Amino acid sequence: MSARPPQSQPTASYEADPAEVHRVLLLYSGGLDTSVMLKWIQDSYDAEVVCLTVNLGQPGEDYEVIEAKARQLGAVECQVVDARERFADDFLAPAIKANAVYGNGYPLFTALGRPLIAQLAVEYARQSGCDTIAHGCTGKGNDQVRIEATVATLAPELRTIAPVRSWQMGREEEIAYAREHGIPIKGGAEVTPYSIDDNLWGRSSEGRWIEDLSHAPDDDVFQLVTRPELAPDEAQVVTIGFEAGLPVTLDGERMGLVDLLEGAAAIGCRHGVGIVDHIEDRIVGLKVRDIYEVPAAALVLTAHEELERLVGTIHQNQFKTGLDQKWGYLVYAGLWWEPLRTDIDAYMDAVNAQVTGEIGLRLYKGGVRVVTRSSPNAVYDADLAGFSQSGGLFSQSASPGFIELWSLQSKMAHMLRQRGSEDGGE
Ligand code: ARG
Repeated sequence: MSARPPQSQPTASYEADPAEVHRVLLLYSGGLDTSVMLKWIQDSYDAEVVCLTVNLGQPGEDYEVIEAKARQLGAVECQVVDARERFADDFLAPAIKANAVYGNGYPLFTALGRPLIAQLAVEYARQSGCDTIAHGCTGKGNDQVRIEATVATLAPELRTIAPVRSWQMGREEEIAYAREHGIPIKGGAEVTPYSIDDNLWGRSSEGRWIEDLSHAPDDDVFQLVTRPELAPDEAQVVTIGFEAGLPVTLDGERMGLVDLLEGAAAIGCRHGVGIVDHIEDRIVGLKVRDIYEVPAAALVLTAHEELERLVGTIHQNQFKTGLDQKWGYLVYAGLWWEPLRTDIDAYMDAVNAQVTGEIGLRLYKGGVRVVTRSSPNAVYDADLAGFSQSGGLFSQSASPGFIELWSLQSKMAHMLRQRGSEDGGE
């Protein structure tokens, strides 16, 4: 086997020295990479492996099967944690308040999930007496940064290993290793699958033809959202109610955040909403293309942003856009634990205290459009604003005076420039 043995000269202080790896907490998904890792770590380090599988609401997982597979491959302990509520309350709620997207519409579901997965790894590693955390990220992505930055920040006493980054096995070699070591491989191993990551807030696909920028999406990549051309011919209007910045009702029915996001995703999926074909600047230097399916975010973020703009003043709205972007970038860049992020959250909470009301969205064949708005806190009142000419706070007769002062500097600069060019022309 051409797998490289563990490197004994770590580059970073948080990387494990192989001689000191005795009990490893492995972030285990049940897929090929982490199953090969489970065997490979036991063999290469002569270490015990404890497996942790985290449920962040990725659809279609059978956790009993994953756990049985881990035990079969020699894990000394297995933990499956349902972290959906914690993910929704501690990570997605602040993301909603920050209208969090990166680039041209990536709502950061992976970037938000990784710090929680790594935080849970730290908690379970400590609980089960592990000295090292192992993850299945490659050396080319952002996820290694998010996970290792979290472990290094929260648990300086723990070390990490990233076998997929260092062992230099390609997919073919991994499959050969799996066959040799009795690791079950599901599906036809002949076709390289897309690289998928998903949770409550969305799903990404990478690899195969997606890397060819001239290749339009093949139909089989859409496993979550109905392709818009197959979506119902009838539009659907859905209302989302918010209290203090968080969605609390869906079509008038009150529910917890996890249920609401699952419900919103189901409606969005049916109408082909939330497909994003994205070229992305990774923090590790590469540009990549991802196909995202983000039905829940497409509904909830559209509604939240609309309501927030309705209750905010022009000054708050302009200022917050910049902070939203900063927040999204910190999270994308793996700096969830950076104090600046929580500083910004304090502002997000202050603004969102007013974000209460209801937004109606019309969904039709891949499109989502705001059609109704209501809020007790809307900085909008036709009577108050005096549009009816009957007086009120807004005085049309004050407008000319305002315009004179508002345009004063522009007018002066214009005059000066004209004079300058006339003088120069003489
Ligand atoms: N490009 C996105 C990001 O960097 C999604 C990454 C998906 N991760 C994965 N292991 N497939 O956040």
